[in-house]
Amino acid sequence: MALFAKAKQCVGLDIGSSAIKLVELKPMTKGDKKFQLLGMGIEQISPEVIVDGTVMDAVSVIDAIERIFRENKIKGDTTSTGVSGNPVIIRKISLPLMSPEELAESIQWEAEQYIPFDIDEVNIGYEILHGTQNTDHGTMDVILAAVKKEKVNDYVSVIKQAGKNVGIVDVDAFALYNCFELNYPEERSKTIALVNIGANVMNINIVENGISVFWRDSTIGGSQYTEAVQKEMNLSYQQSENLKKGIEIDGISSDKVIPIINSVSETFLAEIQRTFEFYQSQTNKDHMDKVFLSGGSSRVPGLDQQVSERFGTPVEIFNPFKAVSFNPKEFDPDFLLDIGPTMVIAVGLATREV
Ligand SMILES: Nc1ncnc2c1ncn2[C@@H]1O[C@H](COP(=O)(O)OP(=O)(O)OP(=O)(O)O)[C@@H](O)[C@H]1O
Ligand SMILES: [Mg+2]
Repeated sequence: MALFAKAKQCVGLDIGSSAIKLVELKPMTKGDKKFQLLGMGIEQISPEVIVDGTVMDAVSVIDAIERIFRENKIKGDTTSTGVSGNPVIIRKISLPLMSPEELAESIQWEAEQYIPFDIDEVNIGYEILHGTQNTDHGTMDVILAAVKKEKVNDYVSVIKQAGKNVGIVDVDAFALYNCFELNYPEERSKTIALVNIGANVMNINIVENGISVFWRDSTIGGSQYTEAVQKEMNLSYQQSENLKKGIEIDGISSDKVIPIINSVSETFLAEIQRTFEFYQSQTNKDHMDKVFLSGGSSRVPGLDQQVSERFGTPVEIFNPFKAVSFNPKEFDPDFLLDIGPTMVIAVGLATREV
């Protein structure tokens, strides 16, 4: 799903509203998708720097991008980056069977019928869904994505000002899927829900038999826990952020915040449930075989178990490095496992078009 594509590269740069994440991968073999981890890093950013998916303080983002490359000695300088949240529209459309060349020519025209924005104001990306070409009916399914040019330009601009190039602008929900495809080939025959909960956006992507069939971005995320703790306990944002993560502050035990955390988790569960029910109403599937949880907020204590109980499915914490080789002298395996859920989108981005 390239909303904007130029070069081949393998630095995934995930510009989230709470932190910028970078993963550099090197393809090990041609054709076969096998990768080695070359570098990675995380740079926290303050909550007022990116608000509602809009870069409010470009200088802070540029600084953080420069730092993440420098401090982690990243060699590549062409990135693929992702966008998510409100200004992203994704549709699955059915089109007559045609060649990739014919599709490239007609996609703009097709898109006009499905995208509720002025077509000149958006970047269009598309991908033929593998395995949906039906010669009997003469149709195929295509995923179409549209993102406001303004948003794409904002992100491309900060990366360029940090002295780096942009090869691809992708959609987070698809980076999530690409990362899953890379790491969990053994889950191919199942119905899987990928749920990535960041600081302000939750991406859900449902995969059936290895094909991405449904996706939704909701504007909810981990900052809601922090804000609830802040409000109810009259603390600073940073104190609340720590308490949420189970770090005790000034004699306040983190047990105190458990009821607040649980009530926010309940709104997340309700949103996931609405999404599942909507998906189920459109298909004949009545359950998920498994849920893969990722994003920084997948580490909220108890959330994995609550999801498992609510939906009666096993829940696994997503390990984006499961199928990635790395040198344990350079990268501590326990550290990778610990921060893995936050790096899922960055890994998915780094696997693009190499
Ligand atoms: N141990 C933890 N316990 C609870 N929450 C955590 C923990 N670690 C990180 N988080 C939360 O995860 C969120 C950050 O996750 P992530 O890096 O996936 O988000 P992001 O990509 O910056 O945000 P978004 O994509 O929503 O703009 C923050 O809200 C952070 O407080
Ligand atoms: Mg994110």
